This record gives sequence, C-alpha cells and structure tokens, in this order.
Amino acid sequence: MTVELQRYVEEEILPRYDAFDAAHQRNHAEMVIRQSLVLAEQLGVDVNMAYVVAAYHDTGLCEGRETHHLVSGRIIREDRRLREWFTEEQIEEMARAAEDHRASSAGPPRSIYGRIVAEADRFIDPETIVQRTVQYGLEHYPEMTREEHYRRMMQHLHEKYGREGYLHLWFEDSPNAARLEQLRVMMEDEPAMQKLFSKYYETAVNGGSNMWGKVKRWLQSLSFRTGVIVLVCCIPFYILSFAQMLLPISAAAKGVLWTILFGLAKTCQYGGLTILGVEGFNRLKKYFKKEKTVFVKPKET
Ligand SMILES: [Fe+2]
Ligand SMILES: [Fe+2]
Repeated sequence: MTVELQRYVEEEILPRYDAFDAAHQRNHAEMVIRQSLVLAEQLGVDVNMAYVVAAYHDTGLCEGRETHHLVSGRIIREDRRLREWFTEEQIEEMARAAEDHRASSAGPPRSIYGRIVAEADRFIDPETIVQRTVQYGLEHYPEMTREEHYRRMMQHLHEKYGREGYLHLWFEDSPNAARLEQLRVMMEDEPAMQKLFSKYYETAVNGGSNMWGKVKRWLQSLSFRTGVIVLVCCIPFYILSFAQMLLPISAAAKGVLWTILFGLAKTCQYGGLTILGVEGFNRLKKYFKKEKTVFVKPKET
C-alpha cells in the first residue's frame, strides 16, 4: 500500500471517528480496513482503493446516521488530496462504493469495492453485535427502561440479522456467513440472549460487576419510603456536624466529630437520592409543590 496515502488517512481521516458514537469509533474503521484488505488481496483488486473506501465509509456520520453513506461518498468526491494518488474515475468508483456500504440500501453494491466494504463492515460476531446494539440504544434512547431496551435490541436483531432480515452477505461461504448462522441460532435461545443483554447492559449502565455497581443496584431495589427516610436523615447530621463546634472539647476532637457527622450526612444524602432515583425524586418534588399550593390557596381567598 502507498505509504503517503496511509499517512494521510491515519492523520486526517481516521481521527474523525473520535467524534462519533461508541459503536463507530476509530477501531470500527480499523476493523473494516483490516477485513477489506484481506478480501481485496484474495480477489486480486486494487488494495489502495479498498483501503480508502474502508477508511472513509462512515465519515459521513458527521451529518447524522440517516444519510451517512451518501455523505461519505461526497466526502471522497470532494477530497482534493486523493487526486494525488487516484484518477477521477477511481475516485468516482470509490465514492459509489462508500454510498453502497449500508446493509439497508436498496440494491446490491454497484462494484466489487462496494461489495468488499459492505462485507467488511459486517464483522458478524454475535457478542459484538449485541454489545453495539445495547450501546446504540442507551445513547439514542436514554428514556427507555431496561425491558424496553431488551425488546428494542431483539427487534433490531430480527429486522437486520433474522432469516428475513435486510442484511445481505456478498460473499458466500465467508467467515461472516458462518458467524451469521451462529447468531441466528442464538437469537432463538431466549435465556442466552437475556444473559448476553444483561452482561452488556449492566456494564454500560453501572460500570459492570464492580462493588459500586452492586451497591447501586441494591440501593435502587429499596422502596420509595426508605429513600425518603434516608434522605431526611442527612438534615440532623448536617446540623449536628456544625453544632458540635460549640461543645467545650479540643479542636482535634471537633475535627474528628465533624468528619464523621459530615460524612454521615453526605452518605445519607447520596444514598437517599440513589434509592429514590430520578422517578422518585420527581415524585418528591411534585409532593412539595402540591403542599405549597394548598398553603397558598386559603391566603388568596
Ligand atoms: Fe455505516
Ligand atoms: Fe461502518
């Protein structure tokens, strides 16, 4: 591969992926490049062209997901530097290949480069697919509950990878075809899918199975009432942490007492808020608002 072209792509093109979502970071482009180069060599086509198509194929995400394949094509067409290594015809062919990389695009890719990038874009690894789908859901639909995220994931997997799914593989008997079959078998196994979903959902939401993740999940399982009681407990601890300053004891003792009481106050405050969660906190806010209006009304009449 041309060294200068590779340097340009690594310095100017791949860093663009740093701004995209977790599923389309630089390692995704690098994976597509690796697989494209293997296919290009096998098929005996221009390795430099396959490399450019792979490197640019998702750069169009800078204008949103919907039309990103078309925008990627435009970015290739408008790139002045590429003219140092390619003819106008080659650039047009590469732009079209980038446009054709989407699994959901209507027709088959128009050239061998389109088929290569479309195939390389799909590293069918069941675990990675589940992980990417969970990450995408959490980033784009933060309001969804855990159950809704699971249903969204399964729906997406069936629409794309199911036997009637819109994904097409362009090379028969490829490693991808074998892994796709593996995924389809797995999708029918509900407990296995639940387990895999749990693994990536919990990691993304709570930072995995670490101590804080476990403590947080336990706190969230407690009731609204417990949350309010724990939260209210922070008030006397805050008052006591400052009131003890008036006691006729040594400064060192005051320091120790302050650390303990203030620490307890903070623990109750954050513990209570974690137990309540966003929903519980809003419920509490609503309750206080209601109290206020009940108070105000008699004054007005
Ligand atoms: Fe894409
Ligand atoms: Fe991609």
